[in-house]
Parts: sequence; C-alpha cells; structure tokens
Amino acid sequence: MIVVTGASGNIGSKVTALLLSKGEKVRCVARSADKLKELAAKGAEIAACSLEDTVALTKAFSGADGLFAMIPPKYSAPDFRAYQNMVGSSIAEAVQKSGVKHIVNLSSQGAQLPDKTGPIKGLHDQEERLNKLSGVNILHMRPTYFMENLLANIDMIKKMNMMGSALRGDLSIPMIATKDIAKFTAERLLKKDFSGISARDLLGQRDISMNDAAAIIAKRTNRPGLKYVQFSYEDTEKALIGMGFSLDIAGLFVEMSKAINEQMIMDTPRTKENTTETSFEEFSEIFTVLLAS
Ligand SMILES: NC(=O)c1ccc[n+]([C@@H]2O[C@H](COP(=O)([O-])OP(=O)(O)OC[C@H]3O[C@@H](n4cnc5c(N)ncnc54)[C@H](OP(=O)(O)O)[C@@H]3O)[C@@H](O)[C@H]2O)c1
Repeated sequence: MIVVTGASGNIGSKVTALLLSKGEKVRCVARSADKLKELAAKGAEIAACSLEDTVALTKAFSGADGLFAMIPPKYSAPDFRAYQNMVGSSIAEAVQKSGVKHIVNLSSQGAQLPDKTGPIKGLHDQEERLNKLSGVNILHMRPTYFMENLLANIDMIKKMNMMGSALRGDLSIPMIATKDIAKFTAERLLKKDFSGISARDLLGQRDISMNDAAAIIAKRTNRPGLKYVQFSYEDTEKALIGMGFSLDIAGLFVEMSKAINEQMIMDTPRTKENTTETSFEEFSEIFTVLLAS
C-alpha cells in the first residue's frame, strides 16, 4: 500500500490515479475529504488529516511500504520557511514512527542551495532533515518550474491579452508538466528501485522562455497579440500582496525569481535521464479550455 500526501493537488491526484490504474492500494492524505471524493470512487482509501497533526499522520503512514511526501504551499503564512519546517518535521517524525521504508520526497531544482532561493529554502531544509533518518530509502525528486504555474495568467489573458511575472521574458528555462512528475513518482514507488539517499532532477521536455510560452499559447488559442511582459520585482511583490499573499511569501517569490533570472538555479545540464516527455505545446491545450469558459 502506498500513501500519497497532497493527494488532491496537482501532483498527488495524478500519482494516486496512476497507482490505482496499476492495481496498487493507495491511501490519500489531504485535509478536505470532499476534494478526494473522485479518487475514493476509484478505490482510494481516504485519510483526511492535516500534515501538521503528527499523530494522525503517523496513523495514516502506518502499514504503507511507500510514500509520496510533499510540503504544500501556504500563501498566507507569516513565516513560510518556519511553516515548511513545522510540516517537514511532522512528516519526518511520522515516517520514522510508522516504519514506511521507501519515500519519494517532492523537492525542487535549487534545493541543494541553503539560501537565496525563496520558497526552495524550506525544501533544502527538508532534504537535510530526511537525510538524518535511519533505515529509510529516500529519493529527493527535484523538478523544475511547473508549466501549471502559467495558469495564474488566465485572468490577465482574458482581460488584457497579456501574461506577466518577474521572470525575464527572453530567458529559456526548463519547464515541466506535473503529469510527468506524477508518472516518475508512481514508477519509482511501484518499482522501489532506489535505496539509501539519492536525488533526481526532472527538467521537462525542453527549455523554453516566457516569450516562447506566450507565443505558443497565442497560436493555440488564436489570440494574436498575446504578449509576455516582465514585471519589476517591486510591482510583483505588491501584486502578490494584493492577491492575499503574506509579506514573507511575496518576498520569497521575488527572491526565487531573481535566482532564476540570474541563473543561480534551474541551470542543471539537460540529459536523457532528466528529460521528460510532455511538451509545452501539448500542455497548452488546457489554455484553450480555460480561456473558452
Ligand atoms: N510550482 C513549482 O514550480 C514547483 C517547482 C518545484 C517544486 N514545487 C513543490 O511543489 C509543491 C506543490 O505541489 P502541487 O502543485 O502538487 O500542490 P497543490 O496542487 O498546491 O496541492 C496541495 C495539496 O496539499 C494539500 N494540503 C495543503 N495543506 C495541507 C495540510 N496542512 N495538511 C494536509 N494536506 C494539505 C491540499 O489539500 P487540502 O487543501 O484539502 O488539505 C492539496 O491536496 C510546492 O509546495 C513545492 O514544494 C513546486
């Protein structure tokens, strides 16, 4: 039996569906049982609890031989790294107490660095924390920038025919569809072909720039003139705060954007092993659906 945390999220929901399709027993962890209804209907067991509740989490992990572990975002957290460390400690304690032996830990490109990487700093801390556990096999999965991040542009495209963020428009970076991350995770947890402590980079199908992404979406959705605009760090921070992000998280997102723009992170050399299949052209189909509604 495999436990999936963040089971109603982008990656967790796809990992769960893939595992169920292979006949594997899956126990889903997330707070809202309601959001897990579809997976329950497909046969998943539901353990609705908070990752902050170590007792409930230990129970949820018990009896499992594999675990997909992730620290979710919490945009309102006044100190996001402290939040990540609190949830991360709870996960680590529940891993040790439950005896689960194979863990795929959702980390990120840049998690090898201790500082100047925004929200990735907490994932660095979690890798270090899990590395200290005894008798477990941990695979730190380090995916790159999610293609799904660009869905935050839907309203801006609808209202202004533009996309924007603090990232440089001309900089090609690796981008990955979460379905590729889920496929990799499900395969590892089914095969259990990792031991001790290891890390794997996942860089998506190819590097593309925000300008390229806008051009692909423009063509796909028949919106000539759709352009990508780079926002200043100051405007980005203000906009994120306006959307309800805490001051801390808004600052961390800007710090991460700087790290990407200055090629401190997301610069891992591409190889056959860290390249995955879904192209941005294939992913962009979702924009036709969402922009039509
Ligand atoms: N975005 C990127 O480019 C990028 C790149 C590399 C790595 N990452 C990593 O990917 C993570 C996001 O993954 P994702 O997109 O699959 O997540 P997501 O879609 O944001 O889903 C979050 C999941 O976690 C659950 N959750 C939230 N708070 C919880 C809590 N306190 N206790 C239990 N469950 C909780 C949510 O369900 P409920 O709300 O019902 O609890 C949901 O199932 C980030 O946090 C980051 O660590 C992101």
